[in-house]
Amino acid sequence: MRGTNLKIALIVLLTVGFYTLVANVIPQVESEVPRELTLGPGVTPEELVAAGEGVYHGPGGCEVCHGLGTRAPRLLTAEGALGLIGARCGLRVGGQDCKAYLYESLVKPQAYLVAGYEPIMPDMSRQLSPAQIWAVVAFLQAQGGEVTVTTDDLGGALAPGAAAGGAPAAGAAAPLSATMDPIEIMRGLGCFACHVFRGEGGPIGPELMKIGAARNVEYLRESILKPDATIAAGFERFAGLMPKDFGQKMTAAQLDTLVHFLANQR
Ligand code: HEC
Ligand code: HEC
Repeated sequence: MRGTNLKIALIVLLTVGFYTLVANVIPQVESEVPRELTLGPGVTPEELVAAGEGVYHGPGGCEVCHGLGTRAPRLLTAEGALGLIGARCGLRVGGQDCKAYLYESLVKPQAYLVAGYEPIMPDMSRQLSPAQIWAVVAFLQAQGGEVTVTTDDLGGALAPGAAAGGAPAAGAAAPLSATMDPIEIMRGLGCFACHVFRGEGGPIGPELMKIGAARNVEYLRESILKPDATIAAGFERFAGLMPKDFGQKMTAAQLDTLVHFLANQR
């Protein structure tokens, strides 16, 4: 049992690490990229922290904002006299301990705004699974604090069948598979963390409902593959926020479907 759990945890770490390292450059074969985090019931705090680090630097996209220390508070280095995030997390909101504060920061970022910053942080539950979110909480706690995330927190996010053979995590966000449904592609890539579309999504980038009225296929393709090539007017202060690696996260056929779908939104 214990051996199996360890093996699974290792596979998890390797999957998370490799997912961010191995580039599937377009045009790629239509493969199912294993982007989901599968944590077995025997997962240890150390394994959680390591998995969270992979999410932080990978699919979480946290560095885009938190890496500079200007657009968002520093998390892995000290934020002024307050110290690292694992040290200050319990002091932000009265009555909220570190774990509760960090979890809320990720899934309800607007509930408490750190003074001096704009409300641009996306609700991470739109792009990360519950297991990935808890792993990130553990990783942040480990930055100068004590890791208190346990398998109880993970609860339903734990894979019940994992110990028996690596079944996918229950209730986890669906990975971007070979789907050709443009909405599913956008959901899988986390576009709705920043773009409003048909009542879904957040207001960080331009709304996409009528994007085809102003933008053609070539422009849209470039906006997705090279977001910094042209910065949408009125969104200059958010320049550089849109991830630059979408070209590696979908197949050429999926990109084509997405671009034509958006061009038809008028
Ligand atoms: C689009 C930019 C952006 C992205 C992406 C982003 N954040 Fe943030 N985050 C912010 C901003 C701005 C704040 C400060 C304002 C606030 O409290 O929401 C913040 C606040 C936080 C805080 C509270 C910090 C404190 O000092 O109390 C935590 C924790 C946090 N983010 C974690 C993360 C993690 C982990 C990720 C990746 C999974 C992430 N953020 C992705 C912009 C971002
Ligand atoms: C972390 C936030 C974020 C994510 C995730 C994101 N975008 Fe963006 N996007 C932006 C911002 C901010 C802009 C405006 C600045 C710019 O042009 O780069 C933008 C611009 C665009 C534009 C150009 C709009 C115009 O009128 O010029 C398109 C198209 C677009 N995004 C599509 C997408 C798609 C499709 C996805 C998912 C595959 C996505 N974005 C994911 C933040 C994001």
